[in-house]
Amino acid sequence: MQLLTWEPQHSVGVQELDEQHKKIFAIINRLYDAMQTTDEKKNLGEILEEMRDYCDQHFSLEEKYFDLFHYEDRESHEAQHRFFREKSREFIQTYAVDGVTLSFDVLDFLEDWWFKHINNVDKKYTKCFQEHGLQ
Ligand SMILES: [Fe+2]
Repeated sequence: MQLLTWEPQHSVGVQELDEQHKKIFAIINRLYDAMQTTDEKKNLGEILEEMRDYCDQHFSLEEKYFDLFHYEDRESHEAQHRFFREKSREFIQTYAVDGVTLSFDVLDFLEDWWFKHINNVDKKYTKCFQEHGLQ
């Protein structure tokens, strides 16, 4: 079952970044699946690390464009990325290193954060990125 479904309304108007958002959703859906399957619970740490690494690459790409295009909202946007990076570290520490059972609160957080981030924060760069030739 899918927790996060990417729909055209989530598009930020840049195909490369939309594809990355879809992949992030797919990783979170795998986490959701693995949580519910006893056999796969051992993979949770690996999936969390994959999520951290992939999100990190994705944020770095957005930030590279902020630099290149002198994007005006970069500071507040990067603060959001820092917050998520910190949360990923916390989750890995708690659930992979300390071995606490992953709770559905984490999945709620991920679902809520990503929908809000894409719709309220990422979409603000669409105009700037497109003016600089991204599509
Ligand atoms: Fe972002």
